[in-house]
Amino acid sequence: MWGQNDAGYHSCPANAAAEAVASKWLLELFELPPECSVGFTTGGTMSHFVCLAAARGELLRRHGWDVDADGLFGAPQITVCVGVDAHISVFSALRYLGFGQRRVVTIPTDPDGRMDANELGRAISKVNEPLLVIAQAGQINTGAFDPLHTIAESTHERQGWLHVDGAFGLWARACPSRAYLAQGVEQADSWTTDGHKWLQSPYDCGYAIVRDALAHHRAMTVQASYLPATGEEVRDPKDWVPRAVAQGSRFRDLGIALLIWQKRNFGDG
Ligand SMILES: Cc1ncc(COP(=O)(O)O)c(C=O)c1O
Repeated sequence: MWGQNDAGYHSCPANAAAEAVASKWLLELFELPPECSVGFTTGGTMSHFVCLAAARGELLRRHGWDVDADGLFGAPQITVCVGVDAHISVFSALRYLGFGQRRVVTIPTDPDGRMDANELGRAISKVNEPLLVIAQAGQINTGAFDPLHTIAESTHERQGWLHVDGAFGLWARACPSRAYLAQGVEQADSWTTDGHKWLQSPYDCGYAIVRDALAHHRAMTVQASYLPATGEEVRDPKDWVPRAVAQGSRFRDLGIALLIWQKRNFGDG
């Protein structure tokens, strides 16, 4: 059954199936773990929003705080570190989520916009509270990639969550001769990328990818008294089909299934 006004499997199984297939293809293409959860959004900004909402919920849950029920008033403080050259959409998402732009710790970058991993290490060395680090794969003007491996290690040493803005750069993973640029990106906890950039899909389509599927679902599942009690998960419209239908056919048009097959069988060749 097809219908664009759906929010879950029962109202439109066809969309749910298309979403599952498109998600699987994306994860294969980016060589990210198959257990990651994928949301289809209006673009990079909303993908940041979704991923950072998952991060916020999970980091606070680990500190005994339910942000969905109790909000941010009185919550443990989360230290947020971002490269000073991060894309504006990251700051928008942080503002939407109540992190406050002024409270964010900005980390110096080199002239191409790469985050200085030593400065990050120094900034987080004394952090004992929940930690969120946002790195970048593909700076908008220079294409520079942050030193992702080092950033991931220092973030995880402090039990932090690493989100990567890969609006442009995550696609390097789809190209065997360029994949080295994004080395280490697979160590992150969540990723943003866009279909309407390198994939040239029609505006608007972004992908929010979260390693901890439960954290993603907790952040984006909604409940309402008027919804039937199917026990089915109903998702927030910021994060659902039917974009996946358009994306699935875009992938097919562009031969993404073929690309995945080639990568698997011939690697760089
Ligand atoms: C690096 C980077 N991140 C995020 C975005 C935001 O993407 P969107 O316009 O899809 O919200 C852009 C857009 O140009 C970008 O270049």
